[in-house]
Amino acid sequence: VRHWALIPAAGVGRRFGAEVPKQYLSLGGRPVIDHAIAAFVEHPGIAGCAVVLGSDDGWWSDVSAYADHPSVLRAPGGAERCYSVRNGLTALAARATDDDWVLVHDAARPCLRRADLDRLLDALREEPVGALLAVPIADTVKRADAGQVAETLPRTALWRAYTPQAFRLGLLRRALEYAQSQDLVVTDDASAVELLGLQPALIECQADNIKITRPEDLPLAAFYLEQQQE
Ligand code: CTP
Ligand code: MG
Repeated sequence: VRHWALIPAAGVGRRFGAEVPKQYLSLGGRPVIDHAIAAFVEHPGIAGCAVVLGSDDGWWSDVSAYADHPSVLRAPGGAERCYSVRNGLTALAARATDDDWVLVHDAARPCLRRADLDRLLDALREEPVGALLAVPIADTVKRADAGQVAETLPRTALWRAYTPQAFRLGLLRRALEYAQSQDLVVTDDASAVELLGLQPALIECQADNIKITRPEDLPLAAFYLEQQQE
């Protein structure tokens, strides 16, 4: 059984609001997406990587050092992240089997640490369903109803879902197909697997594995990367 990476990178970065999708912005001397890809391409336990790109992503070949890398496959993007992931799975299926593990990791998460990736890979030895990196919630969380508090949720049970999220290729394909058949647009891969009644494992990681979503996240990621190198 082998392990593959799937990097959805077909988003336009609407909340970030730059002219270029956020994954192509420069961060510490290379594009955000190259940090995300490097974590996998440089890992000896990863067989290869599929990158899912938007249809007009001339930026990819302009800025990425991995544009012609032999272990990086390309796949076309979809209108939602979950459709992009499905396309990435189709591309991987040319080289991978249904039993192989696929680690789906946002192109917009440039600060993944090797130690956290290793913890996830280790967990897969004992987790038949799959696993995702996650961080326990630090704030108290309220469920709202028309701007007023309806309920305070028990914080000890709440986690932020990060990536990578790892599932067997065949299971993830089935889960995403099922979500689509129910007209559900899931925002992470674990949600699709949960719809099948399965329970992925939460693997705690460092909180610096942030997703760049808004402009203030880019300097924060730069700070985290510098800190990791010390
Ligand atoms: N993504 C994708 N295909 C889509 C939408 C998103 O491959 N149709 C990717 C993004 O490129 C990103 C990851 O999924 O690497 C997480 O999505 P998000 O942070 O929401 O990125 P965007 O969709 O680009 O941002 P926004 O929602 O603000 O437009
Ligand atoms: Mg989005």
